[in-house]
Amino acid sequence: MSFRRAKFLSALVVCMLFGILASAQSAETMKLRKWAESQKIFLGTAVMPDYLNDSLFVDNLTNNFNYITVENHMKWETIHPSQDNYDYSSADKIVEFAVKNGLKVRGHALTWHYQNPGWLGSGVLKTNARAILKDHIMNVVGHYKGKIRDWDVVNEPLSENGELRQNIWFLTLGAEYIELAFKWAREADPKAKLFINEYGNEWLSSKSDGFYQLVKELKSKGVPIDGVGLQFHLDGHYMPDFGAIAQNFKRLSDLGVEIQITELDVRLQNNPSEKAIDQQAKIYGEIMRLALAYKACTAMITWGISDKHSWIPSSFNGYGHGLLFDESYKSKPAAKLVAEILSSSRPKPEYFDKYKSTVNSRAVPPFRAVKLQKEPVIDGKVDGDEWKNGYTYSLLFNQLDIQNLAPTSTQKDIYATWKICFSGTKAYGLLTREDDITVTGHKNPWENDNFELFYSVGNNWKQIRTIVGQGWQTDINVNGKAIWSPDGKVLEFVVDLGIDLTGKTLGWSAALSDNDTPKNEMRKYQLYPIVGNNTGWQGKGFGEISFQNEDGYFIDGPAVGAVMPFASTAITKAPVLDGDPSDTEWKNASLYPFGFNQYSMDQTVPLTGTYAGHFKILNDTKTIYGLVQLTDSDIQKYKSVEIALSIFGNTVLLNSETGKDFTKTSWKKPLKAVWSKDMRTLEFMVEISDKPLANNTAKFSIGLLGAADSSGTPVFGLFPFCGYNRINSGTGKDLGAIMSKKEIDLADLLCQ
Ligand code: XIL
Repeated sequence: MSFRRAKFLSALVVCMLFGILASAQSAETMKLRKWAESQKIFLGTAVMPDYLNDSLFVDNLTNNFNYITVENHMKWETIHPSQDNYDYSSADKIVEFAVKNGLKVRGHALTWHYQNPGWLGSGVLKTNARAILKDHIMNVVGHYKGKIRDWDVVNEPLSENGELRQNIWFLTLGAEYIELAFKWAREADPKAKLFINEYGNEWLSSKSDGFYQLVKELKSKGVPIDGVGLQFHLDGHYMPDFGAIAQNFKRLSDLGVEIQITELDVRLQNNPSEKAIDQQAKIYGEIMRLALAYKACTAMITWGISDKHSWIPSSFNGYGHGLLFDESYKSKPAAKLVAEILSSSRPKPEYFDKYKSTVNSRAVPPFRAVKLQKEPVIDGKVDGDEWKNGYTYSLLFNQLDIQNLAPTSTQKDIYATWKICFSGTKAYGLLTREDDITVTGHKNPWENDNFELFYSVGNNWKQIRTIVGQGWQTDINVNGKAIWSPDGKVLEFVVDLGIDLTGKTLGWSAALSDNDTPKNEMRKYQLYPIVGNNTGWQGKGFGEISFQNEDGYFIDGPAVGAVMPFASTAITKAPVLDGDPSDTEWKNASLYPFGFNQYSMDQTVPLTGTYAGHFKILNDTKTIYGLVQLTDSDIQKYKSVEIALSIFGNTVLLNSETGKDFTKTSWKKPLKAVWSKDMRTLEFMVEISDKPLANNTAKFSIGLLGAADSSGTPVFGLFPFCGYNRINSGTGKDLGAIMSKKEIDLADLLCQ
């Protein structure tokens, strides 16, 4: 072999080796740890002992992170498996590894309502809770003295409304358990920093208000608390309100405590689109900026490194992809953005001024509750005409699937209607329910067939639940009653809301869950009367209810709810408008059912074999595209589709009779409506803007109108939100009189 050739070959081998090394250690190229250290911030991740046997994991960990949280193995059930036995073997493995590799450690968690051992039941706690808790804290914190930088002394102490959660320690020791735990932890390791850790406390809400008040009170009492943990388990399909998060960071840092982002992940639905992954990166990036902008913030900790090991798939049905690195430890756009921000100069808190916190504005009209002349008997039986008055609504939006919010196509599977009436301080409700299989044996109450109400009175937010056949669950204090008919088809209930409801507007939502098998812990449907992403239980994304006033009118008060907008999906290529819905563009769009008949007090849409229809919306920079599909077997009764759109001061009201293009309007820009031959599908477009539509919200309505009666008025109008379009006056004082006939109820449409 010639010298030159040998030299070339060896150079090639070196190059190849480098290539292999570089790809095997893709972690190293990120250098997150180095940047975190130069910023003097902890960049952390949750760790389980088994992962430490995986060299890729270890390599990524030691190159990118300078801090770890013990994900599960310091929880009571692991570390204190029986009353007289502490098992430190697994947690020790992690702590030893950390010490050896110069990583700081977070101990997690000394008090929590979850992952507690069986022996820690009400039996031993009744008489001995104080001694048991003290022994645990002295022992565990003592064992790791000097090795733990931060302890989660109290984990998730709040319920969703911001009051103290009724966990095992609260129920046995009262609110004092919190002070005691901090006191004992301080005693056992005076140098460790002591934290209170919570989820759903990131932005402004009743929960984060409760969190702030609690910390303030503990500080003022001299309880040894050093820091607050905000978990940040986020759904990446929604941009968090960073204005509100920044305000929350500001008020917490004013209390003089450290702030840490303790369990960050940003979950996405399976098979995420490129856009979803980009949005995820943006969310991670802004959170990294938050951590750097606030001096009080000392750590950003993700709940795992790679999607290979994450709690998301087993905890959120159909979700995954929440971490910085994919299953093969390849960095995602989020990791790249985090690296970029971490290696730049620290942003200032003013950076977040550009997000103005969203003040509640009304997206859709409130539901209506009619004043009762006579209170119904709550016995699970509809006696006479006790429920005759009142508006009836469907539960049609399956919020378990944000891509397809339509209900099941057969009424037999699950179908329900509800109404609320009131008298004084009491809200009375009737639920009617059709279900082929009722399942009530699951451990987690919410996975059973059950009905939930969500409401807020002032700042006090509540979620209450009744499992089919049972009363209101008693873990949340409900002043009321819930009685089901023996066949589970009727639920009558009453809740005393504590204030005279006359003329009030309150935050409100309802949900019906359907699980069809005792085998699968995860329920199949959860139907709400509004669109959303199943965050009602966090006191977010819920609607409103308006109670009739003394004179019989509905005058809606200031907005107190925040129904999520309908989503229009961005496209770069327009679908072909030919009445054929098979264009790939439609596949990515969210599907919404027409769930409300706005022309009647009975606003329900019966699912007689099939529901009436659904629609999808897309947009490019300046044009909105729509698809309407009729699913009703009797399409003859539908007359036309009506669309209202308003954005940037441009407003159009369009009408397309089945089979025909839009009726002429004065709108100057292009618009078009094309029906399929069988009259079941409509595709339309309307150019609405000169400015880019992306990230702007349009006011919008879409209705499926029925054929006209002899006076020329359509007999029904089906819309995707509750409202009162063209409900004629004349049916009594409660209707129409305060609404001009021309007024149109609109919803929000968020263009992407
Ligand atoms: C999770 C773990 O990641 C899972 O492996 C385990 O099965 C359940 O707990 N809030 C917390 C963490 O404080 O302890 C939880 O961790 C996630 C929610």
